[in-house]
Amino acid sequence: MSHSLVTMSYIVAAILFILSLSGLSNQETARKGNYYGMLGMAIAIIATILSGSVDSTSAVQFTIFGTTLSGAATVYGVLIAALLIGGSIGATAALKVEMTQMPELVAIMHSLVGMAAVLVGYANFMDSSITINGAEKTIHELEIYIGILIGAVTFSGSVIAFGKLSEKISGKPMLLPGRHWFNLGLLIAVIVLGAVFLQQVESGGNAIIPLAIMTVIALVFGVHMVMAIGGADMPVVISMLNSYSGWAAAATGFMLSNDLLIVTGALVGSSGAILSYIMCRAMNRHFLSVIAGGFGTASGGQAAAIEGEVQPIDAEEAAQLLQAAKNIMIIPGYGMAVAQAQHTVYEITKLLRDKGKKVRFGIHPVAGRMPGHMNVLLAEAKVPYDIVFEMDEINDDFTNVDVSIVIGANDIVNPSALNDPNSPIAGMPVLECWKGETTIVLKRSMASGYAGVGNPLFVLENTRMLFGDANASMQAVLKALKG
Ligand code: TAP
Repeated sequence: MSHSLVTMSYIVAAILFILSLSGLSNQETARKGNYYGMLGMAIAIIATILSGSVDSTSAVQFTIFGTTLSGAATVYGVLIAALLIGGSIGATAALKVEMTQMPELVAIMHSLVGMAAVLVGYANFMDSSITINGAEKTIHELEIYIGILIGAVTFSGSVIAFGKLSEKISGKPMLLPGRHWFNLGLLIAVIVLGAVFLQQVESGGNAIIPLAIMTVIALVFGVHMVMAIGGADMPVVISMLNSYSGWAAAATGFMLSNDLLIVTGALVGSSGAILSYIMCRAMNRHFLSVIAGGFGTASGGQAAAIEGEVQPIDAEEAAQLLQAAKNIMIIPGYGMAVAQAQHTVYEITKLLRDKGKKVRFGIHPVAGRMPGHMNVLLAEAKVPYDIVFEMDEINDDFTNVDVSIVIGANDIVNPSALNDPNSPIAGMPVLECWKGETTIVLKRSMASGYAGVGNPLFVLENTRMLFGDANASMQAVLKALKG
């Protein structure tokens, strides 16, 4: 493939990635956005394989079971085998994964991007066929150093995020005494080691030692950074690691002199950074404070104890409350995803709307376990987009709501976020459903949500608890409504 054709293909792929991102920003166009992304990626892979850089590695030799293989055909053979193995692992994971496990899958995928950046960095560092000198060489070595640094932080941070999201590691923030000094120390060490690394490269010394020490420090930093963030602040970590994985890919692009990888990495990096900012704003947090860690734990005094009587109801009573209501708000949370109740929820919505009731959905920006989690579930159940509202759009309207149904949500409807300054989620905006006439909460027990905080909503006078699996409860309510 000629150089200009490769460049053309890269430009087309980059445009498709931009179209993909803009498509994904809206539910109606998200499917199209995905197709653009897939097409862009296919073009990118084909153009890279045919670009000639693969042929130029035909001097590479592989020794498998004592037989030495070499030449372009062998390189292509290995590439195709790698694509098939990687592709099948990816496809199997995507087919098998439950919607509730999606954030873990994303986290572990980010870790692979980080690991790839580290491996490409070391391969580049050891590649003796690269013959550049002077300033160009220094810049190349710096790219390697920074690429490995970002890659290692992304890798270890994402592995810890995976552990926290899959509950293999406690979700509570781990706060070492003097952690900010520790982080500062690591940062200074990385800068000093960078200078030593460049000096060693210049003088032909043993540059691998500072590089290896920096890699260990970056891995430790990734672990420490994510361990220190917890509770309700995890969404910021996910979008932040998403951003890091983009910058790691961009750094790989610099090392490999691949323009498309640089552009794509920058797109992912900057969109992840914007998402982190939006998340922080939605949770009323400062980005730097979240990164520095420590949110998600009560910092000052004790959080207020929850006292009061729980008022349980059954499905029949819930149905009666809905029959009598004119204005209904549905607030879905993580439990709706666990119970896969979205289809039954939509059945009920249709029935109530047919009876002439106003039914709307109120979506909190961090409901569930990943950005847009609830929107995806509701779109899957074919809930019309025009009755689904963001928190900011409907939060002032709860005084007009007759019945709010909270389906498997907890932290996002916790009044203590607003009125208990000692609560670990203090300051986070929440859906103020208690301002409506009655709130029905569907959950299985009195257990706390992701942030591990008690919820006074459950004992308010105008709250009724409908205990049980959200889907089973919704089906019982549907039956009662039909009967
Ligand atoms: P949570 O506060 O986690 O509450 C979910 C509730 O659902 C639980 O209290 C649980 O109570 C209930 N539940 C679980 N399975 C259920 C089932 N089968 N049927 C009925 N109820 C069930 O969820 P939320 O209100 O959506 O808030 C999200 C939380 O996750 C926030 O703290 C947020 O910061 C955090 N987070 C969000 C993200 C993103 S990006 N959205 C990422 C990571 C973390 P029972 O066990 O009693 O049933």
